[in-house]
Amino acid sequence: MLQWQYAITPDAAMTLALVAAMAIELEPARKAARAVEDSRPLGQAVYCGRIGAHDVVLAETGMGKVRAAAVTQALIERYGISRLIMFGSAGAVNPKHDVGTIIVGRQLIQHDFSLFSGRAMLGWGRDWVPADKRLSAQLLAAGKRLGLPVAPGRIVTGDQPVAHDETRQRLWSEFRADCVEMEGAAVAMVCHLNGVPFAIARGLTDRADAQAVRAFRRRIRDVSKQVAGLAVECVRGL
Ligand code: ADE
Repeated sequence: MLQWQYAITPDAAMTLALVAAMAIELEPARKAARAVEDSRPLGQAVYCGRIGAHDVVLAETGMGKVRAAAVTQALIERYGISRLIMFGSAGAVNPKHDVGTIIVGRQLIQHDFSLFSGRAMLGWGRDWVPADKRLSAQLLAAGKRLGLPVAPGRIVTGDQPVAHDETRQRLWSEFRADCVEMEGAAVAMVCHLNGVPFAIARGLTDRADAQAVRAFRRRIRDVSKQVAGLAVECVRGL
């Protein structure tokens, strides 16, 4: 697990953040929160709204780790975020999962980051970033209330879509990952470094194999509605 953390948690942080990489993933939550555009840090729209008793800010992070990390840091600094929930799609890595399953991440890692071999060369190994236990349990409970197929699991993140069975198999044998996506571990790391509780739900659109692109296109709209609905239900129950 990670051993370093520079906490700059703002005293009066009360706002919940809901983030997704793509507009299609964020849209259903934005509608549920009746959110309106508030600012454009780094050229990315941030929306403010309300869900149940909570003020929420919603943002599209953009795709990939760098954009997602930058937008997350900007949100934390400008909006005094108290908790952050990320949601969206992923490719299945663990062969036991069906497309349609929603993975609530317990821990996340960058699968395309390495420091030569293990701890030998630079003193650090690769570290899984933990999600917040309480917020993750609240996401799982919201999934059960909605009757959705939610499962806790391990998420691997890298700066490329995986659409190749050999790569999927490597992610399974090396990490025992449940699913792969492109932003989660970066957002988790930024939240961790800032002391902001983080949770994530990823709906499986594809099997990260040669048919992944077609499968993703076919399912992304429905999966986005489901995982955004899950995040909204979770906020209502907080
Ligand atoms: N998001 C959805 N499917 C994915 C895949 N196969 N690889 C990376 N990110 C994804």
